[in-house]
Formats: sequence, structure tokens, C-alpha cells
Amino acid sequence: MKRIGVLTGGGDAAGMNAAVRAAVRTIWHNGGEALGIRRGWQGLAEGDAEVMEQGSVSGILHQGGTILRTFRYPEFVSEDSDGPVGKALKKLKLDGLIVIGGDGSFRGAHKLETMFDLPTVGVPATIDNDIPGTDRSIGYDTALNIAVDAVDKIKDTASSHGRIFVIEVMGRDYGLLAAQVAMATGAEETLVPEIPYDIDEICRGIETAYDKGKYHALIIVAEGAGRASQISFDIKSRLNRSVRMVVLGHIQRGGAPTAFDRILATRVTHHATELLLSGKHGVMVGIVANKFKTSSLNKKGGMNHQVVKRNWELAQLLG
Ligand code: F6P
Repeated sequence: MKRIGVLTGGGDAAGMNAAVRAAVRTIWHNGGEALGIRRGWQGLAEGDAEVMEQGSVSGILHQGGTILRTFRYPEFVSEDSDGPVGKALKKLKLDGLIVIGGDGSFRGAHKLETMFDLPTVGVPATIDNDIPGTDRSIGYDTALNIAVDAVDKIKDTASSHGRIFVIEVMGRDYGLLAAQVAMATGAEETLVPEIPYDIDEICRGIETAYDKGKYHALIIVAEGAGRASQISFDIKSRLNRSVRMVVLGHIQRGGAPTAFDRILATRVTHHATELLLSGKHGVMVGIVANKFKTSSLNKKGGMNHQVVKRNWELAQLLG
């Protein structure tokens, strides 16, 4: 019987529980034993794991967060084979591991493969959707919908008061979430890390919007492009208008996953687990153009900034 570990790493993303459920049940269907590693890489380093019992993944498909919990543990990248993870792995006696997380987690997964000979398969889950090799990562769709819902609400009050709102969304160094939030809400201006901006030009754009008869201006800012506090200050000091700012922050990571994220997590994790059990490893499983695609855990390709630029251009053109 194979003993397969399941770990969630990095920032939590809605749909991680659906992924854990799919991994555990696929392991069971193949006659294996599923071991839940608690608290991500930190938990792995401490050997903090539990055998998943029947019922342990029941009722979690629709829940946000991750029942296994997660932890950022960047120290692992510089650990040698005698470090805490190496020692814990000897005790856990795993035959393989499913790692559900983002880029940082895949660097850890690659290290497990190369340094510890542990067969490992990655499942992309991050609200940033910045992982090359998949069209969507688990959690992005939920975060997008949460942000769109919040901006729609802000629009009502912005319009009532004739105000400018600067709204900061997550995404780390990648601007896709901001660009798509802007497109879906009809924001007047969008700031993403991929496109340099000039605050005077932004202010001219806002005035043009008011001149055209708009009674509000929404500025969506990707956190990688700047801080809403600074940008709203810069606008306030140039325009004689009422300006407010909102940082959506971790709200974008919580709540029930959308149906899209539940289905994505279920499909991709089932496939990833089947691959691992059939002997293929050292890969991440994504979905590209609705087809499964495997790519190396040690990817060299960078983020797809072109797709951000295309989304940004359309949001700007029609906003
Ligand atoms: O990577 C996911 C993410 O939510 C980013 O969008 C954000 O920059 C970061 O994590 C926040 O990290 P933390 O939860 O450690 O504050």
C-alpha cells in the first residue's frame, strides 16, 4: 500500500479544500493511505502529520481556507539534507507527496524531488494566477469574484457622493487580478506593475471621465503597482475632489470557493494524484485550453505579462 502525503503551502486560496478532498479520495480509491501534512512546510519540518480517516474530508468541498492549514517557510530552500525536513521525512516514510500551492511551494517540491528523492507532484493554487503552465490557478476565480462584488458595492457609494475611489487589490508582482477586476467593473483607471503610469495622466483621465458626465471615478491598483494610500494622496493633492481609498486585502482570500474553483481543484488534483500513483512525478499539473498539461516543477519560464497587458488595454479602452 502506498503512503502519500498531501500538503498545502504558501498563501491559502479558496478551493484548496476541494483539492485536498480530491487528493485524499483518489489515494483511497487506489488503495493507498493518505497522510495530511499540517501547516505546510513548517509542519513537514516538524513531522506534523495525521493519517486521513474516513470522513476527514467530508463536508469541506465548499469551505474556504485549508483544513490542513498553511505556513510560509522560506528557510526550507536553504536547508540541507540533514535539516528538519530531511529528518522528518525519514520518520514519515512517504512514497510520494501532493503539494498544493504557488511558486514558492513548487520550489520546495522540486527540492524534495532532487535532494530527498521523494516523488512529488504540484497542484497550482494561488489567488495571484501567476504560475506559468496553467490558464488558471485554484483560488483566482473566487478572489476575482470577491473583488468584483466589493468594487460594485463601492461604486454605489462613490456614485452617490461623486467621489474618486482608489481600490487596491492583491496579486503580488502580477497585475492580472487588478486588470480583470477593472474590466469586470468598468473602472475608469487601472494601475498594474506591467505598465508604468504617470499620476498627472491618471488625473487627466479622471477629469475627462467627469467631463463626459460620470459621477464617480474608480481607480483599481494592483498591489505590485503601488499603494492605494499613496496614490489617493497624490490624486488629492492634484484635484479638487473628494477621494477615498480601500485596500481589499485578505478578504480576497477567504470565503466559499466559486463553482469554477471547486471544479478546477477537483479535476486537476484528481489528475495530479493519478499521475503520482502511476509513477509520474517531478511535475506540476495545469489546465491549458481545457486540456491537462504537465510542466516541470523547476520551471524557468516567467509569468505571462502579455496577457496582463491585453486585459489592461481593454479595461482602459472601455473604462
Ligand atoms: O500570493 C498570494 C497573496 O495573497 C498575494 O496576493 C499577497 O501579496 C500575499 O499573498 C500576501 O501574503 P500574506 O498572507 O503573507 O500577507
